[in-house]
Amino acid sequence: MTAVKTAVFPVAGMGTRTLPATKAIPKELLTIVDKPVLQLAVEEARAGGIERFVFVTSGIKTAIATHFRRDIALEKKLEAKNKMDILDAVKGAAIPEGDLLFVEQHEALGLGHAVWCARHAVGNQPFAVLLPDDAIQGESSIKEMLAHHTDPKQQSIAVMEVPLEDTKKYGVLDVETDDGKVATAKGMVEKPDPSVAPSRLAVVGRYILPPEIFHPLNEKKLGAGNEIQLTDAIDAIKGECPIRGIRFSGRRFDCGSKKGFVEANVAYGMADPEVRPVIENLLKTLG
Ligand code: G1P
Repeated sequence: MTAVKTAVFPVAGMGTRTLPATKAIPKELLTIVDKPVLQLAVEEARAGGIERFVFVTSGIKTAIATHFRRDIALEKKLEAKNKMDILDAVKGAAIPEGDLLFVEQHEALGLGHAVWCARHAVGNQPFAVLLPDDAIQGESSIKEMLAHHTDPKQQSIAVMEVPLEDTKKYGVLDVETDDGKVATAKGMVEKPDPSVAPSRLAVVGRYILPPEIFHPLNEKKLGAGNEIQLTDAIDAIKGECPIRGIRFSGRRFDCGSKKGFVEANVAYGMADPEVRPVIENLLKTLG
């Protein structure tokens, strides 16, 4: 197992699919029950042993910094009122000083470009990438992926089977071998039309990548949708850095869409003993 201590979180997206909710609020701070979706991704990374968090922002998302910074005045108020549970939850959300880095992405040129913007913060070591739109409920997928990340040069990618008609929404693996848990791949294609999709094994927003990924990203070549695609960079270095698709045991929600966001709230609510009976009762009355 390779030790991976740094994770990159691209958080510069516009949140177009969730407007008008995300007109004033960064989409990464939309809440699933009582936590911002970005905090769920941070917690998942932490459970996988990540200690340094690199947020790639567009410079206007000060609310994200506020959420992950300690607020000593608020902590004192909660302590004085003896609200210890809330105090613990607030403290637990904070990332320690020096472990949170913000890097700027000036133009929305694509996921590959966002990851490239983090190159100096990452340095010359393997690192994780988590797309906070994808909430994964259950075991940390980063932890599960690391258990299969045996070679520091390997490119590990969380994958799931999708219906053929959905391949155009995802990066898709060109599968070579597949033992039901880990697949080896001959390559990767971004958002292929179902008629040319090499498989139905789609990429979910969790990656463990070697620093070699920055070589093709430096070239800033445009790919699908006229964007600099992370998928293309992964494919470009497959010769020296083998691609492994790793299935995860958790349940994934696309929180960048209205439907996925509502599903996530119901699923996380059902897992919360205080909220579960409320949902159950409401569903009975609704119908
Ligand atoms: C991105 C990646 C894609 C991946 C998807 C997972 O696409 O480019 O390969 O399958 O995330 O959520 P996006 O959804 O940002 O268009």
